[in-house]
Amino acid sequence: MTGAIAAPTEQALAQAARRLADGMLVAFPTETVYGLGANAADAQAVARIFAAKRRPADHPVIVHLRGADDLRGWARSVPPAAAALARAFWPGPLTLVLPRAPQVLDVVTGGQDSVGLRVPAHPVARALLEAFAAAGGTGIAAPSANRFGHVSPTTAQHVADDLGDAVPLILDGGPCPVGIESTIVAFTGDTPQLLRPGGVPLHALARVLGRAPRGGGEAPRAPGTLASHYAPRTPALLVPADALRAELAQLAARDERVAVLARSVAPPPGFDGAWRAAPSDADGYARELYAALRALDAAGADALLVEAPPDDAAWLAVHDRLARATHGIDDDRD
Ligand code: TXA
Ligand code: MG
Repeated sequence: MTGAIAAPTEQALAQAARRLADGMLVAFPTETVYGLGANAADAQAVARIFAAKRRPADHPVIVHLRGADDLRGWARSVPPAAAALARAFWPGPLTLVLPRAPQVLDVVTGGQDSVGLRVPAHPVARALLEAFAAAGGTGIAAPSANRFGHVSPTTAQHVADDLGDAVPLILDGGPCPVGIESTIVAFTGDTPQLLRPGGVPLHALARVLGRAPRGGGEAPRAPGTLASHYAPRTPALLVPADALRAELAQLAARDERVAVLARSVAPPPGFDGAWRAAPSDADGYARELYAALRALDAAGADALLVEAPPDDAAWLAVHDRLARATHGIDDDRD
């Protein structure tokens, strides 16, 4: 069956919930990125996710729930600080890694003693979770609906482009409003730990926790080297704004075809490559980032130059994704 993109009508949602209950995959929008969903209580169904993504089987997946009331079926304990974050940010782009309940499948946790849990805010994700509950389910396991190693999808078409025939049903909720993945905070040690910056900014976590979680340091410095493995297929390079024009001139002198994701810099006169001007605010930039990387990657250029955004805390999650895209530092390309 080919990957069918469907409007999220009541009928499509009911069909999607039935598919999930039957052990099949459904791709659906969340406010962060599109997810590739399966019944988290069905080991064979979750295994289908790994096959479709071609993702190593020992990587844990996030379980999506209707609300914090469903936590008790999945988490063995919920520390007060985790409960406070859930109250503050659910539904929303926050994943809590908590001690797993005994019945949670190894295929979901990657064999770890913890499980990642999130209550998404997107109306289509919420409607799907409700319909799934009506069909007898609770948690939907869902990593980002991209091929392993590729940029996460923020439209239904991105999912179809990446996974095509591997996903018989893709619910279309339009472009994802956050555009980058959820913030992940782990409660598996003595203090909360930031595992991944994302849709909930650090300062918002710090406001609720009383201080920033461990691992929530400052934005990483922009790496400036060309890498051999990264999310876009075109070799990508992060370039400081004040060095972008000079870098372009050098590449032009070598007759290289260039794609550029700019933010403040305008294209030089006579530039004939692919150029995208990204929004100058961090939220707008995050929203468009993956679509921009996909579009620029499709230009088939020799090099993809990304103008480095500002280095302050508001850009932490964007810097994290750009470092992965340009430096090949990601050994975890989920
Ligand atoms: O925004 C998101 O979180 C999206 C949407 C679909 O919800 N999902 C997503 O899933 O980004 P994925 O699988 O692409 O990334 C999940 C990350 C992985 O890096 C995984 O290792 C980590 O979460 N993770 C999940 N469960 C974990 C656990 N028990 N312990 C540590 N890390 C965990
Ligand atoms: Mg992913």
